[in-house]
Amino acid sequence: MPEATFGFRDVDPAEKPRLVRGVFDSVASRYDLMNDLMSAGVHRLWKDAVAARLNPQPGEVILDIAGGTGDMARRFSKMARAAQQRRGGEDAKVFVLDYNAEMIAAGRAKGGEPEMAWGVGDAQRLPLPDACADAYVISFGIRNVTDVQAALVEARRVLKPGGRFLCLEFSHPATELLRKAYDAYSFKVIPAIGELVAKDRASYQYLVESIRRFPDQKTFVGMITKAGFARASYTNFTGGVAALHQGWAI
Ligand SMILES: C[S@@+](CC[C@H](N)C(=O)[O-])C[C@H]1O[C@@H](n2cnc3c(N)ncnc32)[C@H](O)[C@@H]1O
Repeated sequence: MPEATFGFRDVDPAEKPRLVRGVFDSVASRYDLMNDLMSAGVHRLWKDAVAARLNPQPGEVILDIAGGTGDMARRFSKMARAAQQRRGGEDAKVFVLDYNAEMIAAGRAKGGEPEMAWGVGDAQRLPLPDACADAYVISFGIRNVTDVQAALVEARRVLKPGGRFLCLEFSHPATELLRKAYDAYSFKVIPAIGELVAKDRASYQYLVESIRRFPDQKTFVGMITKAGFARASYTNFTGGVAALHQGWAI
């Protein structure tokens, strides 16, 4: 049977969802604070850049898959409403789906926007009909999914023709110098911050290991194309520490 990755370990694919769920159960209450500490706030700039690229419009159905505490969905809702106030049109609908009920609960506790709806669901088997969405966004989520290719095929299924796929994920630094500095920071500093703030070193060790195991930018473009998307491409953020991948459903 093919194996799945859990950080640097190869595990039985049947085992991975429980292991990943354990990570996010453990970090849910400190998740947003930890993101700010680990990235010195830079993750907010990356998320803003993705929202600007999506440019949400009134009346659109937008999916925030593996949406966690709804960080992206809040941005999309506000932007679609601002456009609606300028030009009119229907309300946008923004769905946050995550398979971890603790993350959804932490997101709901933070508060939502009128356009937002929350649900528990797996990116590999979305509880959604075919061709229902104008955009599918997954931010720092796909790396945690057991079968990434299956999740991409599922993304293609739920998008309308002309719909857009956007994936923000940690990726691979483009230069050797940056890779060395980033390795030193992520293997030494991030697990230590996890231990201090979230009282959970192991979950943050998983985070840095899972980033290294995720396919590089070009390999991931190939996977998006294989799932049936057109014009798959990527944009590096911060020298490839993160990357935005895009594709079009045709
Ligand atoms: C690092 S968080 C990202 C949350 C949010 N998108 C953000 O950018 O802040 C990863 C999320 O992926 C979710 N996740 C992992 N595997 C999943 C799956 N198969 N289906 C849906 N969500 C999943 C986890 O529960 C977790 O909330």
